[in-house]
Order: sequence, then structure tokens, then C-alpha cells
Amino acid sequence: MPPTDPASPLHLTELGPLREAVAGWRRAGESIVLVPTMGALHPGHLALVAHAKAIGRRAVVSIFVNPTQFGPSEDFSRYPRDVAADLALLAGAGADAAWTPDVAAMYPQGFSTRIEVAGLGEGLCGAYRPGHFSGVATVVTKLLNQVRPDIALFGEKDFQQLQVIRRAVRDLDLAVEIRGVPTIREADGLALSSRNRYLGPEERLVAPRLQAVLARIAAALGEGAEAGRLLQEGIRELEAAGFNPVQYLELRDAETLERVERPVRPARLLAAAYLGRTRLIDNVAV
Ligand code: PAF
Repeated sequence: MPPTDPASPLHLTELGPLREAVAGWRRAGESIVLVPTMGALHPGHLALVAHAKAIGRRAVVSIFVNPTQFGPSEDFSRYPRDVAADLALLAGAGADAAWTPDVAAMYPQGFSTRIEVAGLGEGLCGAYRPGHFSGVATVVTKLLNQVRPDIALFGEKDFQQLQVIRRAVRDLDLAVEIRGVPTIREADGLALSSRNRYLGPEERLVAPRLQAVLARIAAALGEGAEAGRLLQEGIRELEAAGFNPVQYLELRDAETLERVERPVRPARLLAAAYLGRTRLIDNVAV
């Protein structure tokens, strides 16, 4: 196994060397934590890496802009990519390995398997991004099989994604623990996202309203108010602030993602809305 310089992660682009590195760590009795990403790393990703290092011995970060989770009119081609900058950030964060397969390695000629998580993957973002969660579940299952980590970390910002992955892992008996990590936010409340860099200066000023509206509604729900009217008012407030369209603002059960009127069990308030050409999503616990 190649030596691990603590200042620079192993940069692995082929499955063979990845498996060799991971097998060496396993033989040494070291635990492995995977942080799957699409790159364009920001402090939210680095918090996941710090968390990985706090709970395990080795942190592997995958960087793969997965074409199968983007719709034909989405931002796959303009999605920000800068592997050199990402590797420098990962060195600073103490990651042990960066796994950066290319599309041909991930989806070889004739690739024909898809994982569909029915129900959980269909509403909310799934209703507006057909095929998205099937693409996510398929690539994450592959990443988990490639790295075989003990634990994999996902940000709660993509809450529906987290629940879809948990269900796929449970249904397919994958031997890995999935953990969600709380969303990292800017000082004004905006959830960190690689797509925030698409926002123009005016849009950036408006963007934190999404979280502010969610937080206010969550507080009112926590005091016993019913969701219906609050959600309608929230949508109107977001529209007045410049979000267009507001795709959804909904209260859902935190585990099943079924629609609920009152948070009798742990619930989640979730929203997706466009600001100019940028689609923002966010959610808060209720
Ligand atoms: O959240 C992301 O960055 C992606 O959806 C993931 C989980 C890395 C799968 O491509």
C-alpha cells in the first residue's frame, strides 16, 4: 500500500488501487468513513470530513459529478468542477483518500442497472426531478460497494436524499451505517451548497429568506399551530421575496416523508424554490 502523507490524501482514480488502499487499512484494523460528494467542496463538505475523522480512523472522500442524477435540462454540464482545488481543501481537512473515478469507470459500456426507491423518492424533489433519486441511489450503492466503508456520512441539507439512501441500504442489506450530519449555514442562515455560487449579488441577499421562513413556520408548528395556513402564507412570503417558482413547502414525517398536518412524531419542514436560475432547497426539523 502506498504511504499516507498526513498532509495530502491518496488520490485514487482506479478501482484496483482504491480497493488495495482500503484493504490495507482494514488489515490494520482501521475503521473507514466515506463522505460521498460531487466536488466543488465548501465548508459544509469539510465539516463532514472533520466529522469522519472524529468518528473513524480513515476518511475517504469521493468526488464524482454523477450524470445519472441530473435531468436533461439541469446543470450537469455547468456544475462546478475543480479537482485540484478540492484536493488542496481535503489535504487541509486531513482526509486520507480522494476517490475520483471518471464516468467511463463508473458507468462502463452496457451499464444497465438502476436502483429505484419507490415512495420515498417520488414526492418533493422527486416530483420535479424525475429519475434524480434513482440516479443518486444507484451511484451511492456503487460508491458504498467500491469503498466498503463502516460508516457513510451525508448532509441533512439533502434530507430526502438521506432518507432515500437509508432505505436503499436497509432494503438491500448493505453492511454500512448511514449517518446524517446537520446542515452547515452561512452567518445569515443560508444553507451551504455548491450551487450557491450561481447566485448573483441581489439573489444572494434574498436567499436566506428561505431558511428564515422555514424557521418561523417550524417554531409556530412546535407551538401547536396547524400546517395548512402557515404553509400557504410561507409560499406567498417566498414569492413576494422573489422566489419563483416555489416548487414546494411541505411538512412531512421525518422518516417516511409522508405528508402530515401536525408534528406528532419527529417531522421535517422542507422547501425547494428557484431564485433566478438557481434552485435552492432547505429543510428544518420540527
Ligand atoms: O449529495 C451529493 O453530493 C450527491 O447527490 C451524492 C450523494 C454524492 C451522490 O452523487
